[in-house]
Amino acid sequence: MKTLLEVSGVSVSFDGFRAINNLSFQIGSAELRAIIGPNGAGKTTFMDIVTGKTRPDAGRVIWGDKSVSLLGLSEAQIARAGVGRKFQRPTVFEDQTVRDNLILALKKPRDAWSAILFRASKADLGRVEELASEIGLWERLDDPSGALSHGQKQWLEIGMLLAQDPQLLLVDEPAAGMTPAEREQTTKILVEAAKTRAVVVVEHDMEFVRRLNCKVTVLHEGAVLAEGSLDHVTSNQEVIDVYLGR
Ligand SMILES: Nc1ncnc2c1ncn2[C@@H]1O[C@H](COP(=O)(O)OP(=O)(O)OP(=O)(O)O)[C@@H](O)[C@H]1O
Ligand SMILES: [Mg+2]
Repeated sequence: MKTLLEVSGVSVSFDGFRAINNLSFQIGSAELRAIIGPNGAGKTTFMDIVTGKTRPDAGRVIWGDKSVSLLGLSEAQIARAGVGRKFQRPTVFEDQTVRDNLILALKKPRDAWSAILFRASKADLGRVEELASEIGLWERLDDPSGALSHGQKQWLEIGMLLAQDPQLLLVDEPAAGMTPAEREQTTKILVEAAKTRAVVVVEHDMEFVRRLNCKVTVLHEGAVLAEGSLDHVTSNQEVIDVYLGR
């Protein structure tokens, strides 16, 4: 598989504490990857570094076919380069319908005039319906987003990120606060999304990770402790000691 993202030798300290410690690993171009590990292992900080929110003290973060360094780019430039990130708190427009939220999220010129003059084309509307089906909200297209459940808002947010067509989607603890049925649907959405892009999911729910059925990277103290299938990493004694056996 072609490498999409390569993190190598990355370290970052907060007040002298090394949250990320010589971290190195790679993500392939249409890969689904789960990242697990104990609280404070550096999972969220890894995403902060890739998205440009946190600047590492050392190391390299290399992106895409042209091997661009993401470390020289702003958060906005990294997003435009094709990195999407799902935050915990959904940021949907509650008064707007599901359809309008998805239309607003489509990859379009973003300057003020084009935003004002923008009318969704037939192709855009078709794409929006496609996205709505992907996230299981086709029947809710005309409902105000405020009427959705917590889980459904999370899916809408994922749909809005997919509308931007990112090459890499980073998702931090998507299952938190969801019902078991919503968790299952969320797995399906992410598995489907990863067929055409890379998706990296941080999650503590092991049932959820098992359903993703993908390669797993275990972080501990800011570095990779183990990597491979879920069965492989969960039979690793160090992983059991620092994470599973808590
Ligand atoms: N901006 C920051 N300032 C100071 N310390 C930070 C900052 N961001 C993260 N840390 C610290 O870095 C360490 C790694 O935190 P991080 O949030 O990446 O862990 P995590 O693996 O996401 O944990 P969790 O599973 O609890 O979400 C923690 O000790 C945390 O307190
Ligand atoms: Mg975290």
